[in-house]
Amino acid sequence: MNEARSDALAFFGATGDLAHKKIFPALHAMARRGHLNFPVIGVAKSGWGLEQLRARARDSIQTFGGGVDEKAFAVLIEHLRYVDGDYREEATYNNLRRELGNSEHPAHYLAIPPSLFETVTQGLDKSGCARNARLIVEKPFGRDLPSARELNRIIHTVFPEDDVYRIDHYLGKEPVQNLLLFRFANTFLEPIWNRNYVDSVQITMAESFGVQGRGAFYEEAGAIRDVVQNHMLQVVGFLAMEPPVTTYHESIRDEQAKVFRAIRPLSPQDLVRGQFKGYRKEPGVSPQSTVETFAAVRLHIDSWRWEDVPFFIRAGKCLPVTATEVLVTLKRPPLRKVGATNYYRFRLGPDMTIAAAALVKKPGEQWKSECTELKLVHTREGDEMEAYERLLSDAMIGDGMLFAREDAVEAAWAVVQPILGDVTPVLEYDPGTWGPREADRLTEEIGGWHMPQ
Ligand code: BG6
Repeated sequence: MNEARSDALAFFGATGDLAHKKIFPALHAMARRGHLNFPVIGVAKSGWGLEQLRARARDSIQTFGGGVDEKAFAVLIEHLRYVDGDYREEATYNNLRRELGNSEHPAHYLAIPPSLFETVTQGLDKSGCARNARLIVEKPFGRDLPSARELNRIIHTVFPEDDVYRIDHYLGKEPVQNLLLFRFANTFLEPIWNRNYVDSVQITMAESFGVQGRGAFYEEAGAIRDVVQNHMLQVVGFLAMEPPVTTYHESIRDEQAKVFRAIRPLSPQDLVRGQFKGYRKEPGVSPQSTVETFAAVRLHIDSWRWEDVPFFIRAGKCLPVTATEVLVTLKRPPLRKVGATNYYRFRLGPDMTIAAAALVKKPGEQWKSECTELKLVHTREGDEMEAYERLLSDAMIGDGMLFAREDAVEAAWAVVQPILGDVTPVLEYDPGTWGPREADRLTEEIGGWHMPQ
């Protein structure tokens, strides 16, 4: 394992959408924290110069980074370089090598479509830029199991697995990390966190907006590839994993991968797909598109801990709210009069909440219970690191814990592989609703879906 800190960051796709929305704000935040002390080299084929990239960085931070901190921005500008060139040409990599100066352990971040990975990794290799380097890659990592395997093969011809950092930005989110900490740092939780006490687990990732101009990308993806295979399964992994032993670094990723392997590959009976009305009129979308903008699934985890506990995932665009929530419902006590049950609620975005619901006596003559939530954590902001800042910082110091490992990515693809494509009809739903009514069928046995506010 390459344990040296990376001493330069080259990012491919510097003039693209991801750089604009996420990478520049993350670099700016790193500068503000005093963590940006290495050259940052943007690479793209846009015919731009450094001045244009600087202007783009300012605009990005202004728009998506919560405003420009001039001191931090000056640090970023001081370290920013730009290489303009075609990814297929040797000269591009030679220019990059020159800009890397005396860097001995660069990190190369591919914020570009996976179809270019082979060209770029080969270019990095031939020019010497890949020597003692690490590679950071963006999701989507492949579009199914065979293509993910092929991408892994391509990358590994140049970069060994220990030097590969696959981003799933959900792993960089504070509330998602808190799932893991909360589960294992609290003695009261572990005895009940299993099939004896847990009745069901639900995760809803609702977004009130549509595809936001990313129609062409979305046509290639759909909700299952875009968020279920990665973000949602990572959350399931943190909720369902066995306690990681703390004696070695890979233990969390080992447990995560074990969960994915224990999830039964999904079958079309466990799936409802939906598409919001109007999606087919979006730019870049086919008028006959059958791509899903909503997916609901029922998962089975074949393990001692979770046998017979249903896990449900629901993710969609143009739903009534933007919120990601997990609801872990506990079994009912043997009291006929109790209407509700205890649950734990984890709100993962846009803000964070951890709440436990308890039943107490409703004031009055009768012995009636009411459900009340004890809020354990409830934050809107703070000195949190945004996911991309966290992940880029970790990759630079060579900490791979919050990155998707080869075996886990492939196991996650194996889970969704049988439900990719048109295996069930795509059902239309009105924007602003909770997706097709048919999705309710999946959760009938547990009394319906949880509705995040
Ligand atoms: C991205 C998906 O990975 O995650 C988007 O491509 C989605 O479609 C986004 O909107 C959600 O991320 P967040 O951090 O806003 O929940």
